[in-house]
Amino acid sequence: MSLIVVLNGPNLNLLGSREPSIYGRVTWAEVRERLQHIAEERGVEIEFFQSNHEGAIIDFIQGLSGRANGLIINPGALTHYSYSLHDALMGSEIPAIELHLSNIYAREEWRARSVVSPAARGVIAGLGALGYELAMEAMLGIIEASQG
Ligand code: DQA
Repeated sequence: MSLIVVLNGPNLNLLGSREPSIYGRVTWAEVRERLQHIAEERGVEIEFFQSNHEGAIIDFIQGLSGRANGLIINPGALTHYSYSLHDALMGSEIPAIELHLSNIYAREEWRARSVVSPAARGVIAGLGALGYELAMEAMLGIIEASQG
């Protein structure tokens, strides 16, 4: 059975209560519940990981090689400066979808640059928590296509 991993970076454990006017009121627990449901319906395994620590995220991604078929990642602020995250994604060779709840292109100037995007198959931004479900749908398609 295929395994899709959903990874949230720094501060995203506070989803639902952190700046709700920007990130919405849906909690990380609710996101996990919705995706778990989709995974069960579509016959794939799903695993979740959240960390506020860059190194823990890199270690986790390294451990996915040969195990995960797809990665959906909201890197939080690591998006804008973490070359080690970029390199970990490149090294893993796992198709990754980069996801942001907010539209990073419509906010502060420094948010408009992602150093992670070149390592991602695609990017979803600005669609709130729905983005996780859309990313899931897209990832199911990517995995299906790779399996011929
Ligand atoms: C974010 C956007 C980032 O700029 C920010 O640092 C986050 C969340 C988003 O989901 O919109 O932590 O990735």
